Amino acid sequence: MKAIPVHQDQDILSAAARLAGEDMCSINDLSSAEVRAIMKLGHDVKRNPREYRHALDAKQMVLMFEKASLRTRLSFETGINTMGGNAIFLDQTNSPLGERESIADIARNVERWVDVIVLRTYAHDTITEMAANSRVPVINALSDFEHPCQALADFMTLEEHFGSARGLNFTYVGDGNNVCHSLMLTGAQLGANVTIATPRGYSPDIEIVMLAREKAAANGCEVRLTQDPLAGAEGADAIYTDVCVSMGFEHESTKRAPIFRPFQVNEALMARAARHAVFMHCLPARRNAEVTDAVLDGPQSIVFDQAENRMHAQKALLLLLLGGLSNTASFTGLV
Ligand code: CP
Ligand code: NVA
Repeated sequence: MKAIPVHQDQDILSAAARLAGEDMCSINDLSSAEVRAIMKLGHDVKRNPREYRHALDAKQMVLMFEKASLRTRLSFETGINTMGGNAIFLDQTNSPLGERESIADIARNVERWVDVIVLRTYAHDTITEMAANSRVPVINALSDFEHPCQALADFMTLEEHFGSARGLNFTYVGDGNNVCHSLMLTGAQLGANVTIATPRGYSPDIEIVMLAREKAAANGCEVRLTQDPLAGAEGADAIYTDVCVSMGFEHESTKRAPIFRPFQVNEALMARAARHAVFMHCLPARRNAEVTDAVLDGPQSIVFDQAENRMHAQKALLLLLLGGLSNTASFTGLV
């Protein structure tokens, strides 16, 4: 079957029309077709970056981060810079949003100067409150509850590796945290079977589980929970883990270390997965804690492809939220 060119792709054209000016606080803000559109556009942006060189000419992005970042900050900054826009970084690590002035007042100021607000916060409500009060799109660049941009890049990476996410057996081992939540929702949107293996007491949020199961049912796949990491890894196409102590939970490090030890991704756990399985991690990794060096640096690891794809997937997202396709030659007149 001949592939449909991106500028004729119905998912992309519909997403461009519906998402222009919208926020992306959660994967749940996107339909399955819109997640697919981001994937397809992300692959094209990666293959043909010059096509999009002027798509966001003069657009201004502000990044307001309450937490540390390497990948997210740089991938957003390089992403908008390579499409003609500009990024301004505000370090909020010593000045939590809402402390000096209300979040609503910040939104009502910032929207007068910039075209998009990218937030990394502790409370998820900080992001939704900014979105509710801002006329320009707000993007979640990680909150305590979700990390949607990470999950978009991760499933783009899986598509790159396996051709499609549909029917893949994807297993997440570790803390039922922000990354886990966004992966569950994205996997379910794209038709992947998602298994989550967490220690008792660290399972994902029940509302996210229910939402992901609803989406999975609509997309012909399943979301399963287990407390047995080896059983969860059995036959998987992809094994994913994240730190067991997320930013903001450092005070729980001592308590968590022994609880998460049996959930370490090591060669024994990888041996339970399919022979062709890949290993994934959002990074930063605590080497030899949640994952051993042998796995992280081993031949199955695709962690740096994931990191690279943060930029391409976010460029696709920005193109859709900021109406950038109308400045892209192949789309002119179509969006
Ligand atoms: N994966 C990720 O979000 O990395 P940073 O915390 O470095 O941005
Ligand atoms: N769950 C981790 C992800 C870091 C990218 C955290 O929130 O710290």
